Amino acid sequence: MKVTDTSDLWWKNAVIYSLDIETYDDSNADGVGDLGGLARRIDYLAELGITCLWLMPFYPSPDRDDGYDIKDFYGVDDRLGNHGQLVEVIRTAHDRGIRVIADLIVNHTSDQHPWFKSARRSVDSPYRDFYVWRDTEPPDTSHQVVFPDQEDSIWELDERTEQWYLHHFYKHQPDLNVANPKVRDELMRVIGFWIELGIDGFRVDAVPFFLDDVETQEAEGLAGNPHDLLRRIRAFLGRRKGSAMMLGEVNVTHKKQLAYFGGDHGGQLDMMFDFVTMQATYLAMARGDARPLARALAGRPQIHPACQWATFLRNHDELTLDKLSDAEREEVFAAFGPQEEMQIYGRGLKRRLPPMLQGDPRRIRMSYSLLFSLPGTPTLYYGEEIGMGEDLALEGRMAVRTPMQWTAGKNGGFSAAPPSKLMAQPVPGGYAPEHVNVADQQEDPDSLWTHVHSLITAYRRCPEIGWGEARIIEQPHHGVLAHRCDLDDSALLAVHNLAAEPVTLQLPVEGSDSSSVAEDVLGREPVALTGGGVELTLEGYGFRWLRVHQSRGALMA
Ligand code: GLC
Repeated sequence: MKVTDTSDLWWKNAVIYSLDIETYDDSNADGVGDLGGLARRIDYLAELGITCLWLMPFYPSPDRDDGYDIKDFYGVDDRLGNHGQLVEVIRTAHDRGIRVIADLIVNHTSDQHPWFKSARRSVDSPYRDFYVWRDTEPPDTSHQVVFPDQEDSIWELDERTEQWYLHHFYKHQPDLNVANPKVRDELMRVIGFWIELGIDGFRVDAVPFFLDDVETQEAEGLAGNPHDLLRRIRAFLGRRKGSAMMLGEVNVTHKKQLAYFGGDHGGQLDMMFDFVTMQATYLAMARGDARPLARALAGRPQIHPACQWATFLRNHDELTLDKLSDAEREEVFAAFGPQEEMQIYGRGLKRRLPPMLQGDPRRIRMSYSLLFSLPGTPTLYYGEEIGMGEDLALEGRMAVRTPMQWTAGKNGGFSAAPPSKLMAQPVPGGYAPEHVNVADQQEDPDSLWTHVHSLITAYRRCPEIGWGEARIIEQPHHGVLAHRCDLDDSALLAVHNLAAEPVTLQLPVEGSDSSSVAEDVLGREPVALTGGGVELTLEGYGFRWLRVHQSRGALMA
């Protein structure tokens, strides 16, 4: 690998940060965060060290699914600002070395989208086939719904035309018929539009839903190979902007994920969130036993060298535990969310990480050290860098979508509006802005912000993590995850103790000779390499990142 490759395949070692403009910073005191507010925080994001900003949906929307229900794919919600201000944000971000990606929702529209409004008016509407209809009573599909608290079928009867339309998510989000070439043309036009405006790629929403949908597979064009659509979108994107990237939301098993990367040849999604490793991380932390995490990492399929895993501990949705067995999920619930109000959809948690770990700074720091050292590209959800908490009194996933906490002052510095006008209140209690905020933590060398900042710096200094060949280092302590990422003549060794008890371990370091030392990337004392390895003592929840250079002998071998 040459250092110049990192600018072409920039996503291989990016640091991604996601935020919803409406909860980030309100510049006009109307109680809603906006593009003007985000623009003045770009320097903050640059200082934190992120390299890619993922903007959650900013399109006009009836807002019944927090913006994921879109009624105009080309618009900017006027509560947030306008296209001009969006361009200013993109341009300012680019100036500070930050790329900007946007959510791309292919699976569905809002029922308020003009296409659907027309489609449901008559079976002869030119937009009728933009959606998926059936005219016979559907079977029981209650096991297929994504939001079991709200829906009991993926089909909804539309009384006027007496047919049922498909909706995997809420009934106000009808699924688009992506097998229809006209729909595909429209989607390409949307992609082309935002790319032309300066967007650098997309986080593609709900990918398996629009690909696996039996009805669309059977329809013309995509029969037998629904992945054609992803390939076509990727090729189109590449023609419009060579450096653009697609990061997919694909919560399926590792084995199945390979197909969404385009198998051995790539050419579909460039990146995918690693939901399996995320879930295994929580199981491992709940048990104080690193083996589930080691197994998950070992189970990743080999992917095309241009592709990458996006690692994460939290996103804007429920912290889903759907890939764990029932018994494993119960273990995580018992450890991190024992009360019913903390759980959601019977498969996940509506909490943020610090309250789940009872605010224990050692465990919180270790978790983020893990996130930044796991092979892949780390993704932060806004507020994680300061350890924001959740508001369990809020409905469902809204519990983790509270305003960013900038200061200890009024409304946490999010807005100058009267508190009653805020679109959401900052969290109350021990994680409220007076205890958790950016301003205080930026000044404090011992804060979580400073820790995350140094992890970002370390990650960016270690292309081994994003680009290297990763493997687990065998050692006898179940509480410890030891892994290494090798790139050219150097390797990053990361060791994390997920258990409460201190541990001393001997770690073999292949390719080292006894005269060398391992540099400590997080700024501690270097460690001597003796007898082909290192001896390390880790506190409970302790961690080290060591970098070794291959010895000449090993290189020649
Ligand atoms: C994705 C989004 C989620 C949204 C759903 C429907 O899963 O992450 O927030 O509700 O798609 O668009």
